[in-house]
Amino acid sequence: MLMKFLSFEKKERLGLLIINRPQALNALNKALLEEIDRFLSTQITSENIRVLILTGEGKAFIAGADIKEMQAFNESQIREFCNLGHRVARRLETLEQVTIAAVNGYALGGGLEMALACDFIYAANNARLGQPEVSLGVIPGFGGTQRLSRAVGTRKAKEMISTGLLLDAEESLRFGLVNKVVEPDRLLDEAMGAAEKIIQNSFSAVSRAKRVIGEGADLPLPEALELEKKNFVACFSTPDQSEGMAAFIEKRKPGFE
Ligand code: CAA
Repeated sequence: MLMKFLSFEKKERLGLLIINRPQALNALNKALLEEIDRFLSTQITSENIRVLILTGEGKAFIAGADIKEMQAFNESQIREFCNLGHRVARRLETLEQVTIAAVNGYALGGGLEMALACDFIYAANNARLGQPEVSLGVIPGFGGTQRLSRAVGTRKAKEMISTGLLLDAEESLRFGLVNKVVEPDRLLDEAMGAAEKIIQNSFSAVSRAKRVIGEGADLPLPEALELEKKNFVACFSTPDQSEGMAAFIEKRKPGFE
């Protein structure tokens, strides 16, 4: 697949997707979002990867939706653009692969929204995260009002969205917005280290756990717990369960599928 704004690198079961539009701080225009959409809906299945790290080229992760392109959109264009951004975020959130956002600098507006759709976030200590949309006369439009609230609680989300203030990496860590803060030159190594641990585990179990956590978050607790019960039991019909438990008992490393 020819990609103008993305580069993709692969090391065995680990994929690294780099947003590559540094002259615009990786701002998401329609063409770039369409490339990510195509990558996540088609190419990724042929890559046979289990973890996808998303990061940005240069000094930004993603500085938001492309304001210069967006400002001239008419109502139907902006609706289509909004649907596209939501579709990409939802794809990230529901991929069978684990997604890690490696936030290497600015993650603003639509950029933070993409990071929030990933399974977890590692940030460089010089990263800045925020939803500055109200300073442009709009609200977050790729899921930020909902995913940020679910990540940090409505009170912090309301403060961040209404002031538009950016959090630094340490503050983001304190509010549970990011999982880990590291030196910028360690960011990809740390994300890859986590990816390697994930890859050693049963992919069917990792992927199922991701799905149960995601689907359960939208359900009342009793139904969410039923979902877990059903899926825990279903694990016992998988080769990875037989292998994982046998390997434990035989004191050897499991050879998962
Ligand atoms: N859209 C379009 N272009 C952008 C951009 C964006 N979101 N963010 C940065 N750029 C461009 C700048 O216009 C500039 O281009 P030129 O060289 O052609 O002027 C280039 O990237 C470099 O940016 P700056 O010179 O501004 O760099 P800086 O270091 O001085 O400032 C910044 C960095 C604070 C991130 C600043 O660029 C900024 O505030 N960007 C906009 C952030 C923002 O408001 N994001 C939210 C967008 S709306 C949205 O995302 C809606 C949604 O939820 C879907």
